[in-house]
Amino acid sequence: MSATPALETRDLTIRFGGHVAVNAVSCAFHPGTLTAIVGPNGAGKTTYFNLISGQLKATAGRVLLGGQDVTGLSASARTKRGMGRAFQLTNLFPNLTVMENVRLAVQSRAGAGLQFLQLWSHRGDLIDRADSLLAAVKLLDKRNAMAGALPHGDQRKLEVALLLALEPDIFMFDEPTAGMSVDEVPTVLELIHGIKALGNKTVLLVEHKMDVVRSLADRIIVLHNGTLVADGDPAEVIASPVVQEAYLGVMPEKLEAAP
Ligand SMILES: Nc1ncnc2c1ncn2[C@@H]1O[C@H](COP(=O)(O)OP(=O)(O)OP(=O)(O)O)[C@@H](O)[C@H]1O
Ligand SMILES: [Mg+2]
Repeated sequence: MSATPALETRDLTIRFGGHVAVNAVSCAFHPGTLTAIVGPNGAGKTTYFNLISGQLKATAGRVLLGGQDVTGLSASARTKRGMGRAFQLTNLFPNLTVMENVRLAVQSRAGAGLQFLQLWSHRGDLIDRADSLLAAVKLLDKRNAMAGALPHGDQRKLEVALLLALEPDIFMFDEPTAGMSVDEVPTVLELIHGIKALGNKTVLLVEHKMDVVRSLADRIIVLHNGTLVADGDPAEVIASPVVQEAYLGVMPEKLEAAP
């Protein structure tokens, strides 16, 4: 574990009117680790992600990337510094094909967006790279379909391919398998496992399914009413009274369903 965290939040806070959605959350995330963020509905998990990625501006507190304060930077400036987040549909071009979407993402990562000569001379490489990403998310057979016409589960897989194309240092997944059919879930979980296996990426995963959390996470943090209430080893955190209490009456069946 390196000394400087890839990502750190210090007293990160946002208020919506009188409601404190994320309340002074201080937490550091290191390269080579996968942290699951759990908590009941409305706990502030997605809002925490929005503050980290720059979609929302913090009321107070700071976000640091590789030790550098990025609190004042836009979402796109944070992306350039290695922050990667899959967004539902917002960075997907519905009227382009699956292949064209991935190729554009690969191209932007290669910095070839406006350099047409370079683009054309490397076109074969770009297509090879895009094809390998489509193979990874099992969408090769749909490469010529319009992105906007894909079923929901395929669109989520495409989002993951776009995220992989950016080769970020930090991966943020917010319920990546939500809305997927049971047979599609393993593809996405295998990909997240593969990212973790690279050993140098920092992965944050919001996930309600405790069996998924158990199989992937090195660490669990728990948010409850916007506050970080537990942080540690997955087995210990899941067994802790604070988690049992936080989930009680909200989704106890999911805790029980875990192996
Ligand atoms: N833009 C906003 N304006 C006002 N309130 C908001 C806004 N975004 C989030 N909230 C509130 O902040 C709280 C935390 O919401 P958030 O979506 O972060 O929860 P969550 O933990 O992601 O829940 P879920 O598990 O259901 O996805 C909720 O009470 C929500 O209503
Ligand atoms: Mg959420």
